[in-house]
Amino acid sequence: MKTNDKIIQVFGSQLGLEELEEIRDCLERQWVGMGPKTTELENALARHLGADEFVLLNSGSNALHMAVHLLDIPAGSGAEIVMPAFTWVACANAAVLAGHRPVFCDVDADTMNLDAAAVERVIGPQTAAIMAVHYAGLPAPIDKLAQFGLQIIEDAAHAIDSRVGEHACGTIGDIGIFSFDAVKNLAMGEGGGLVARDARRLERARDLRLCGIARTGFEASQRRERWWEHEIREAFPKMAPSDLSAALGLAQLRKLDAAQARRAEIWQHYQRELSDISWIQRPIDQQAGDRHSHFTYCIRLRNDNRDKLASYLLDQNIYTTLRFHPLHLSKVYQNQVSLSVTEHLMHRALNLPLHPMLSDTDLQRIIESIRKFPA
Ligand SMILES: Cc1ncc(COP(=O)(O)O)c(C=O)c1O
Repeated sequence: MKTNDKIIQVFGSQLGLEELEEIRDCLERQWVGMGPKTTELENALARHLGADEFVLLNSGSNALHMAVHLLDIPAGSGAEIVMPAFTWVACANAAVLAGHRPVFCDVDADTMNLDAAAVERVIGPQTAAIMAVHYAGLPAPIDKLAQFGLQIIEDAAHAIDSRVGEHACGTIGDIGIFSFDAVKNLAMGEGGGLVARDARRLERARDLRLCGIARTGFEASQRRERWWEHEIREAFPKMAPSDLSAALGLAQLRKLDAAQARRAEIWQHYQRELSDISWIQRPIDQQAGDRHSHFTYCIRLRNDNRDKLASYLLDQNIYTTLRFHPLHLSKVYQNQVSLSVTEHLMHRALNLPLHPMLSDTDLQRIIESIRKFPA
């Protein structure tokens, strides 16, 4: 029983005239590759995060690849990187393509973030690093994970506005990566980047992102002599951003506070309105003094009707999804581990629409539809 109501998307971003103006600026300068907009955005993101520097790349996935490379663990040494199975596939790809082994770990049932006790159980002599995802933007327990004395990559793809006290997520561990793809809180179509505690790693990332060439075309064009010469520092794939996507990022960053305020409002609305529905378990809020990015609102059903609810909402033109399908059960990464919380989430979790383009009417329609669902 399809409805004619407008489609409510599960993710979305607010793109408009501000972005158009920034893009116009690129076109008027006739510079759309990596250049001044990239630098401007990098400086603005570093300020936003309270970091010394930010290195912009062309995706969050590539930022993960770059981050693992920057750890400098010898390939083929049997090194293991511990990570949740409840995450994006690039986390595991980044380990494998650098010659290491991903070790999948369970998440905490309340936070959906890495469970420090479960991490401790899988740490062994080969463990070289931990990759911790701030799921939905709720800060993961980086301090607890740091007690194991291993290098930590923070996957802050969902967490551009998350904080633990005064510290921005991504800046607490050794390296922090971010995603600015089309559905993220700061949307550039494709984009991402990283921060690192050690400035030498950031310098290396700048040298690597253009196939390992240590000078960009824009920098070369500013020189008067032998501008065609360049030094290749290391063999590396191209991960450079473009000024066109950086232009979108600049406009998005200026609107971030307003968009985040709307996301928080929607989150709280769900928390209130779903509180008396016995078959729904709501996500938890951040601890007092911390900050959540509210990238997505993930409920869990207390019964087996998750798929039915998703189809029923789709019939009402309300899109939902599941982030993430567990990696340890995928064809490429399947192994024998049993991760009870992650597998529970696979069958019971559902991400509801949450983005700044949702109107109050949309929200009301979602809540009413859920209330009418014959659970
Ligand atoms: C947890 C997590 N890490 C990394 C990424 C990769 O980001 P990108 O889409 O920019 O490659 C994503 C993307 O959804 C993600 O959810």
